[in-house]
Amino acid sequence: MSSQNINTQLVTAGRSKKFGQGAVNSVIQRASSLVFDSVADKKQATANRANGELFYGRRGTLTHFSLQQAMVEIEGGAGCYLYPCGAAAVANTILAFVAAGDHLLMTGAAYEPTQDFCNVVLKGLNVDTTYYDPSVGADIADKIQPNTKVVFLESPSSITMEVQDIPAIVKAVRAINPEIVIIVDNTWAAGVLFKALDHGVDISVQAGTKYIVGHSDAMLGTAVANSRCWEQLRERSYLMGQMVDADTAYVAARGLRTMGVRLKQHHESSIKIAEWLAQHPQVERVNHPALPSCKGHEFFMRDFSGSCGLFSFVLKKRLDSQQIANFLDNFTHFSMAYSWGGYESLILTNQPEELNRIRPAGKVDFNGTLVRVHIGLEDSDDLLNDLAKGLERIA
Ligand SMILES: Cc1ncc(COP(=O)(O)O)c(C=O)c1O
Repeated sequence: MSSQNINTQLVTAGRSKKFGQGAVNSVIQRASSLVFDSVADKKQATANRANGELFYGRRGTLTHFSLQQAMVEIEGGAGCYLYPCGAAAVANTILAFVAAGDHLLMTGAAYEPTQDFCNVVLKGLNVDTTYYDPSVGADIADKIQPNTKVVFLESPSSITMEVQDIPAIVKAVRAINPEIVIIVDNTWAAGVLFKALDHGVDISVQAGTKYIVGHSDAMLGTAVANSRCWEQLRERSYLMGQMVDADTAYVAARGLRTMGVRLKQHHESSIKIAEWLAQHPQVERVNHPALPSCKGHEFFMRDFSGSCGLFSFVLKKRLDSQQIANFLDNFTHFSMAYSWGGYESLILTNQPEELNRIRPAGKVDFNGTLVRVHIGLEDSDDLLNDLAKGLERIA
């Protein structure tokens, strides 16, 4: 592991004369064909095609190698595979380690398309999924079967934000079967606020679409694997034809350089706003990992170095559809969108029964309407005023 501070790493990782050709940022090398000067060169490139040597566009170009190298330096693995979006990273990472007749343990509060992938694609391949309560901890041991090949985590959980006790889960899984591959969707932590591989996880997956890209203008998935899993992940993903265009890889590498300062601001503003909401008479509970009211807050304090901008809160009252429209349609700074992780603030609501439909394990324990916010880089007082007015509209 590097002794450099993560903010320094984010600025320097993957930058070299080879990748940058003298420029500060990596070059955009768009290529399918990569021409060999001689038979000897072709032979050398073929032998090293999986190790950062120019071979054929689908194995990557200097732009991809720079981003992959940066991700490995930042997350601390043996290699990083790049995918066209976060959902592709999730699907291909699981697919690389399961076959017909196998079993997968999936958190019951996973991002909905991750669950759909298990329920549709894996089911069709005769891979069985069991969902577990995200608050499970060491009791995950009770769910492991002889054919369990993958345990998949997502922490904090999508929308409801429970923080998982990952060290306890890893310990329990390893004690029963050290061969099981443990994967975490580490998007909320942007791969840096929680160092998954240092906590014994095998593969850290991210929707790079969120904080790495950071400007809501490109899609990317990343998976950083330890040495035990890297080769199999790389070769299976390659066989599945997974590839990102050089322009997207460039945009992502560029995003990394400012991710440290962006996350610092998301952290400060989101905690300030979460603390304000926690005192608000219309709010029942704030699901921000940095606040004691969030489930798994103690694991956040122990394992994470900071927070991003995404959290949720539960209103005391259940809003009807007209109140929801009046609330959501009239914000000045918060927009409605399904994504997050960009510089802009976003807001959405969910009713408890809508959440329970996408939580096969670990049902919600509240009756009010849940509001999910992404706190962007706007001035936090402007955002507070906007939220205060929004809450007045539904008082
Ligand atoms: C936690 C999480 N994982 C994965 C994804 C999928 O990422 P993408 O939209 O890049 O496919 C998302 C997208 O919202 C997400 O929130």
